[in-house]
Amino acid sequence: MVIAGAAWRDPWWKLRDRLLSSAGFRRWAAAFPLTRRIARRRAAALFDIAGGFVYSQVLLACVRLRLFEALAHGPQAEANLAARLQLPADATRRLLAAAAALELVEPRGDDRWGLGSLGAVMVGNRAIAAMIEHHDALYADLADPVALLRGPSGPTRLERFWPYALGQQPAALGPDDVAPYSELMAASVTLVTEQLLDATRLDDHRCLLDVGGGEGACLAAVAERAPHLRLMLFDLPAVAQRARGAIAARPFADRITVHGGDFLRDPLPRGADVVTLVRVLHDHDDPSAEQLLGAVFATLPADGRLLIAEPMAGTTGAAAMGDAYFGFYLLAMRQGRPRTAAEITRMLQRTGFDRIRELPTAQPLQARVLSARRP
Ligand SMILES: C[S@@+](CC[C@H](N)C(=O)[O-])C[C@H]1O[C@@H](n2cnc3c(N)ncnc32)[C@H](O)[C@@H]1O
Repeated sequence: MVIAGAAWRDPWWKLRDRLLSSAGFRRWAAAFPLTRRIARRRAAALFDIAGGFVYSQVLLACVRLRLFEALAHGPQAEANLAARLQLPADATRRLLAAAAALELVEPRGDDRWGLGSLGAVMVGNRAIAAMIEHHDALYADLADPVALLRGPSGPTRLERFWPYALGQQPAALGPDDVAPYSELMAASVTLVTEQLLDATRLDDHRCLLDVGGGEGACLAAVAERAPHLRLMLFDLPAVAQRARGAIAARPFADRITVHGGDFLRDPLPRGADVVTLVRVLHDHDDPSAEQLLGAVFATLPADGRLLIAEPMAGTTGAAAMGDAYFGFYLLAMRQGRPRTAAEITRMLQRTGFDRIRELPTAQPLQARVLSARRP
């Protein structure tokens, strides 16, 4: 990204761009011993971007065929796998070769196959599998990315999947409207909750309110980690109804109260001294996001704390996840945008929060956490 005031470097960038766009220079760099490795690495990086969709579909095939579960208890003979996956022998070999190239599986000799280092992570990982399956809808919307950028004429698949993004009266959404996304969120929230709960201590708080808390999967994890806390959940009425059902039989049910409403129209329940926004803020355009922060500010007592946990743009080592993946995901959803920690910090300051700081997480790709206090 170009930094303001960096125009003095323009001549250097001009030279670099001129060299890299010259076929002759590329040929020379690929042959010259000192630049050969760099040239090959750059070519592979560009190919990976071009081929990324194919790699994703190989992974989707593995997930749908439950290949990782098939290998979870040890290597399997290729013929056994073909029978289990119900694929012809040559298709099985082609899938396994592709998955091996992506480190999802590994050949283990004697026509046997085991888990690869990335495939092993997928075993029993409902959260990632659910997101991979859900990409179906995202990829359908991305089939014509230019049309998407220009603004499609009708609703996108993701807009229909997230019907509160369609707008007018989210509180009027019914059980069938919210079920698909609520199930996906409940299946995948562990990725974020672990990061949040490992990053902070909640000992000093009495009552935690999870705003946009879905079916209560995040609160369930909080309940286990912090047995002293009273808990509240706020979400759209139809989602709140699902949360009540999901929580009813859990041992911590008597510690949780569930509230239904629209956080852009209705006041948030009072009484909490810590509020969480988990994967909520980036779903909303700036005016709604600031309004939501204002509602949280209004409900907190002096010294009350807000914790924001979500994947953020500009994350070191995961830049593509923020601006490329979430940038285009939220474009397809037609609401919200990935924000950097600095942008969220400025929003929090404008709302009146202070003592804003980032709490480091072990996997910033999955979630970063900002903590802020009401003065
Ligand atoms: C992306 S989901 C995140 C759910 C949960 N925090 C998680 O990470 O699994 C966003 C949540 O915000 C809720 N939400 C969206 N707009 C809302 C509104 N205007 N009022 C109340 N809840 C809303 C949705 O129903 C949904 O449960």
